[in-house]
This record gives sequence, C-alpha cells and structure tokens, in this order.
Amino acid sequence: MDATAQDKKNTKSAKLTVDGKDVALPVHDGSIGPSVMDIGKLYAQTGMFTYDPGFTSTGSCESKITYIDGDEGVLLYRGYPIEQLAEHGDFLETCYLLLYGELPNPTQKADFDFRVTRHTMVHEQMSRFFQGFRRDAHPMAVMCGSVGALAAFYHDSTDISDPLQRMIASIRMIAKMPTLAAMAYKYNVGQPFVYPKNDLDYATNFLRMCYAVPTEDYKPNPVLAKAMDRIFILHADHEQNASTSTVRLAGSSGANPFACIAAGIACLWGPAHGGANEAALKMLAEIGTVDRIPEFIKRAKDKNDSFRLMGFGHRVYKNYDPRAKLMQKTAHEVLKELGIKDDPLLDVAIELERIALHDEYFIEKKLYPNVDFYSGITLKAMGFPTSMFTVLFAVARTVGWIAQWNEMIEDPNQKIGRPRQLYTGAERRDYVQVDKRK
Ligand code: SDX
Repeated sequence: MDATAQDKKNTKSAKLTVDGKDVALPVHDGSIGPSVMDIGKLYAQTGMFTYDPGFTSTGSCESKITYIDGDEGVLLYRGYPIEQLAEHGDFLETCYLLLYGELPNPTQKADFDFRVTRHTMVHEQMSRFFQGFRRDAHPMAVMCGSVGALAAFYHDSTDISDPLQRMIASIRMIAKMPTLAAMAYKYNVGQPFVYPKNDLDYATNFLRMCYAVPTEDYKPNPVLAKAMDRIFILHADHEQNASTSTVRLAGSSGANPFACIAAGIACLWGPAHGGANEAALKMLAEIGTVDRIPEFIKRAKDKNDSFRLMGFGHRVYKNYDPRAKLMQKTAHEVLKELGIKDDPLLDVAIELERIALHDEYFIEKKLYPNVDFYSGITLKAMGFPTSMFTVLFAVARTVGWIAQWNEMIEDPNQKIGRPRQLYTGAERRDYVQVDKRK
C-alpha cells in the first residue's frame, strides 16, 4: 500500500484548547473531499475522549476505494463515476477494479472472469448444511449461517497473513455468494438446487441458478441479465457504511474472511441499512394507491410516529443518490421487457417521490430517494420475493466488503478497533448481602 496520509510529513494542524492548555491536532488532507484531524493522541494529551455516537463526523480509516460527495450526489469507485461503470462495464470488471485499483486490460479481465467462474461451486456438504434450516427461514438468516460456515469448509484460505490465501478467499467469496444466494432461494421455495454453469456470465449464471428447473431448458433473458448485472454494480461498494465498518471491525481482530463477511451480512439485514429495499417495497404495497400517499407523508413527518419513508434519506447523500436514478431507469427497462404496462407500485413510487421532493419537510431535511427506493420494484418484477431483496444486496456488496477488508489488513497503521465511551453509570459501591437489601 502507498505511504498513508499519516506517514506523510505533516505541515498542517488544528489547535484545540482544553482546560487552558493548547493541543495541536495534525491535519491530514485527502486527494479529494474533507481533510481530517488526527485525534489519535488526544486522550494521552488531554485525558479526554471524543464523543460521536453514529460516527456522524468521524473518519474510521484511510481508504482509496470509494469516494462519495453527499452534497453533489457523486459516487466514484477508484475514481470512476458510478454512472460510467454502470453504463459501459460489467460487474466482474467492477470487482476487479475495486479489488486491484485499476480497470483490467483484456488479458486481466479474461483471467479474472475465468478464476471467479471456476470457484462458483460450493462444497457438496453445503447442501446438507441447508437441510438444517426450516423451509420458511428468512433467506438472510440462511445467508448469515451458510456464509459463516464456509470457514468450516475452506481451511486453506483462512490465514489472513498470507496475501495469496487472502486473494483466494476473496475470489471464493465473490464467486460463491450467488450460488449460496440461489440455494437459499431454491430451499425457500422447495425446488432442487441448480449448479452453476461455467459458460454463463456472472448475472446470467445467478438468474439460471434461481429460476431453472429440471423439467425444462432455461432460456436466459439478456435484458434481465443486464439489469441484474447493473444492480450488482450499483450495490458493490459505498465507503464506510454500517456493514462495511462491521466487516472492518471484525477483521481488525484477525477473524477469518468468511466470518467477517457473515458479520457484514448480519449488519446489512437491518431495515435502516440494506433491509430498506425489502421494507420500501412493503411500504409501497401498504400505501397501495396514489390517493393514500398524503396520509403516509403526514406520518413520516410526525415526530410521535416512528414511521419513516423507507428508501428515503441517507447519512451522506444530502442530494439525490446517483444510484437511485440508475435504479429507476433499470426499473422502467425491466417492466418494459416484461410487458408490465402499469405497475401500481411504480405509480405509487413515482408519485411519492414527486410529492416528497416538493414537500418542505423533506426539502429542509434533504431527504431524497436512496438506492433502496426503486430496487424492490425491479426485483419484484424479475420474480424475486421481497425476502430475497437484501440477499441480492449482500451478493453485490461482498466485493466491496472484501476489498475494504484487504485494504485494512494491508494498512501498516492498522490495529484492532476498540472504541471508548462516556460512562454515566453507577460509581463504585460495595456488595450488599441479599438479606440486607430492601
Ligand atoms: C443504505 O451508509 C450507506 O452508505 C448505506 C447505503 C450503502 O450503500 O451501504 O447507502 C445503503 O443503507 C441506504 C439507506 C437505506 N435506509 C432507508 O431507506 C431507511 C429510511 N431512512 C432513514 O432511516 C435514514 O434516512 C437513514 C438511516 C438512512 C439515515 O439516518 P441518519 O443519517 O441517522 O439521519 P437521521 O435519522 O438523523 O435523520 C435526520 C432527520 C431526522 O429528523 P430530526 O430528528 O432531525 O427532526 O431526517 C428525518 C429524521 O427523523 N428522516 C426521515 C427519514 N430519514 C430521516 N424522516 C422520514 N422518512 C425518512 N426516511
């Protein structure tokens, strides 16, 4: 890894005065975006911690992978705009870019595609592992269990100090996630598992594993495969979001990559994060018709009502999420291809977006549709049950998690993550025998 910002000679600093004592905090500049104040020595110098629940103003690491400008609605993977990658590239090319930092040349692309394709099968015992789940288990619960269990099958790629083993584990994760996701879907619907085919591209292979049945030949739909591939690109990475931070924190203890990715899947499941695509579609279905939108907008603005517009708002984007625009375009393409003239959920979504974007509450709080707002409409039209939506998000985000995990391990300044706290509990007190308590 190139010299980190910390290692470069610092010329800039910020001054903090604590109890009359001036403390100099080194300032590190990025290549683009906000600079950071290095508080690594603050406790030693002042006896105080910083305090930032939710990390609204805290940078947890240095990274060269993804850059987001929330005010401008910009998303760059290794400097390339998401719009250009989604328009001109494919998902495995994006995986190579996120992992290695550069777009592959034709030879590198062919080699990477070959390596990933030949790791798509899972150990045959995994199919017996699935038998332990109830058929109606939520597919995300199945993914948490089965991905964590990969460490029980692939001992030869869990030594994280070995770069070769790290790369084998990285390729295995990217390759096997679609297979496990398709197995989770097939198990849920009671159909036999479908093996991957090496002559299919990544997205087509995944759709075939989900929708092929032994009783007839599977006819790939290139429009749906392209849409699936683009959805994977849009969800591939997103800086230090909650699940990526979970993967980094798990990895900082030296945990094996399969366990770290399983931790990321668990965090992504939450409705405030990756679970929002499932929640957003359920919300659109609950609204049902355009005339009921004002009632829900009112609820979303009511402080005493916990209801939120799922698929709206973002910690970083205070402008339109660039992925949401591309997701809306993909929704229209898929509905057109499938001959779905008028999807009432899409009508509700478009009208809900129009009303929200003109409502002073949403304008003042800078709440725009995020990546999860339109994805559910597209995935439902493609035949996926809502319970599979976050699984698809996890399939795509695995490359982002694994790229960030590799970057963390290769960072010379990396150490185990161990935040501190503001303690407001009981002060020291002595034990009281039970017969003496009131
Ligand atoms: C993802 O971090 C990432 O990059 C995540 C992600 C990725 O690619 O990894 O982009 C993927 O998780 C997208 C977000 C999906 N979640 C949802 O769509 C769930 C609905 N959205 C909210 O829960 C919320 O917007 C969050 C969780 C996304 C962001 O929450 P923040 O940054 O902590 O903001 P906040 O909760 O402090 O909200 C600020 C204000 C609050 O009002 P006040 O307390 O200031 O009066 O905006 C309000 C909130 O009540 N608000 C909403 C709202 N989201 C925020 N009001 C109504 N509906 C909403 N959706």
